[in-house]
Amino acid sequence: MTTAGTSVVHARAPGKVNVFLKVGAVMEDGYHDLATAYQAVSLFEEVRASPATDFSVQFSGSIDTSGLAIDGTNLAIKAARALARKAGYRGGVHLDVEKNVPIAGGMGGGSADAAATLLACDALWGTSATKDELLAIAATLGADVPFSFTGGTAIGTGRGDQLSPALAKGKFQWVLALADFGMSTPGVYQELDRHRDRHAQDIFPAQHQPSVDTSVLQALRAGDPHMLADVLHNDLQAPALHLAPGLGKVLQLGEENGALAGILSGSGPTVAFLVTDADSALELQVALSASRLRVVRATGPVHGARLISD
Ligand code: C5P
Repeated sequence: MTTAGTSVVHARAPGKVNVFLKVGAVMEDGYHDLATAYQAVSLFEEVRASPATDFSVQFSGSIDTSGLAIDGTNLAIKAARALARKAGYRGGVHLDVEKNVPIAGGMGGGSADAAATLLACDALWGTSATKDELLAIAATLGADVPFSFTGGTAIGTGRGDQLSPALAKGKFQWVLALADFGMSTPGVYQELDRHRDRHAQDIFPAQHQPSVDTSVLQALRAGDPHMLADVLHNDLQAPALHLAPGLGKVLQLGEENGALAGILSGSGPTVAFLVTDADSALELQVALSASRLRVVRATGPVHGARLISD
């Protein structure tokens, strides 16, 4: 999208909360048909790309990154390789990723790494890919990668990668309770499938194409946290709570301490609490921290992946 020039290119991409997520039937590709409302939130992954002959990545940031893979299985490396392949670029890149989105937390941190990497490498290599070309590569990397690329507020269907923008007013305030463990996204989907197999009555609704309730779109358009709190929904919450029952206590604690509502973020285990304003966000952060939870605040919606001039 831009031309090469500097030796280090810095791009930033946001994490997300799904304010609504309905899971439909399993599709032919093994993914589930989704209807989700994404909101990009102000926790950002910072990717700095510098010229190299090979592909490598290193991590730093406000969270413990020691367990992350740095080989070819890493999504940022996959993103860089995918763009190089598509653009016919023969060199490599070194990626320096500063992580602020919880790892394996259901907030799309890995997806944000991939989205920022695509933008940074495009600029570093001067590949001049169009936004649509980058979005097409993003969709091959993971269901949430296109959304981190576009940011803001959007409805996702199909795997979650078919995006249409949604109107949203103002800023919503979130308090995020981070877990000290990660959860496997496929594991949570499998638990949902197991539950639906056990309870035949739940299979019937899953055959229907899911859609985002109009009340969610109205709440986003109104910019009203009370309205949005009433309609927050995530089909992955029950199976995630089944796998990690302790999250139920976290949800309860937040709601007892001033949250309008709490919801599991994506496939979890991060729990996102919606609050009325910045003061209540701070109060809830203090209350949850007193219970030894790791807590960060964020606002949304925020912009998608973009280049930063340092
Ligand atoms: O695309 P991503 O790598 O984020 O997805 C991780 C896993 O989550 C998939 O391999 C699949 O098991 C599950 N998934 C799904 N349906 C979706 C999105 C993800 O079953 N729409």
